[in-house]
Amino acid sequence: MARHFVLNTGAEIPSVGLGTWQVEPGVVGNAVYAAVKAGYRHIDCAQAYANENEIGFALKKVFDEGVIKRQDIFITSKLWCTNHAPEDVPVALDNTLHDLQTDYVDLYLVHWPIRMKKGAGFGGENVIPSDIPATWAAMEKLHESGKARAIGVSNFSSKKLEDLLAVARVPPAVDQVECHPVWQQTKLREFCSSKGILLCAYSPLGSPGTFKAGNVLAHPVVVSTAEKLGKTPAQVALRWGIQMGNIVLPKSTHEERIKKNLDVYDWPIPEDLLVKFSEIEQASWKPGIICFRNRLSELKLC
Ligand code: A2P
Repeated sequence: MARHFVLNTGAEIPSVGLGTWQVEPGVVGNAVYAAVKAGYRHIDCAQAYANENEIGFALKKVFDEGVIKRQDIFITSKLWCTNHAPEDVPVALDNTLHDLQTDYVDLYLVHWPIRMKKGAGFGGENVIPSDIPATWAAMEKLHESGKARAIGVSNFSSKKLEDLLAVARVPPAVDQVECHPVWQQTKLREFCSSKGILLCAYSPLGSPGTFKAGNVLAHPVVVSTAEKLGKTPAQVALRWGIQMGNIVLPKSTHEERIKKNLDVYDWPIPEDLLVKFSEIEQASWKPGIICFRNRLSELKLC
């Protein structure tokens, strides 16, 4: 099964990457170091996670120790909502590059199709009208400069992608969205696939213990598949994602889990078990968050 998928730039992207959202400073560096040692060649970062600086030191350590070279690892980062103004886009990437101690990222994403006032916190009152075509033109310049070897988006619906494709000179290479067996994104994946855009799955384990709904790792279909195959529910959830054609970005801070989450290549979920996944009732975020999401959608932001 594919250890890599191919982006519309022709570059390869490893199909498993380490997620770093909600991995606090003091912990994230060790997780990245352990992941690279375990064989991960893809790290998913974002300025908004407030931990790129520590990730930069962990990467420097693995490079200095000769474990891998920069060109052996795929690094993603994301433009935060407060930096959508075209003049702020290159500054934001430069800050990320400085923190990550590298002179390019392999993939740079517009984190949300939502713009917020410069320097503002994450509150609905800070949302201002977005101008995605102008932001995207600035992203295209970063791509041309070589500082972002590929560009893409995150949290974009099919409609938002369609609007973007209508004006883009460089089409987005990926859309990174929440995706797991309990929130499968079937329509979005079909749309992306028809446009040559890869779907990257964040929260591929359903983010156990957070506001996400569905309890993916305890779902009967996931658990019974794991039992039949002698795998863990987490491995099954990740393997399902890859078999759907998704890049999966599991997050863990525990070395054993980090290792196990990469052991998803040498065994398949057979077709008779795979079909059961299409019968899983779909549920994404818990009620409070759904209110927030509906509010964004009323404002036509999401
Ligand atoms: P931990 O960091 O303690 O390993 P997601 O990637 O869907 O957002 O899920 C991340 C959450 O899932 C983290 O809380 C992480 O906890 C937990 N997790 C990661 N890998 C596994 C695993 N193999 N089994 C159970 N929980 C896991």
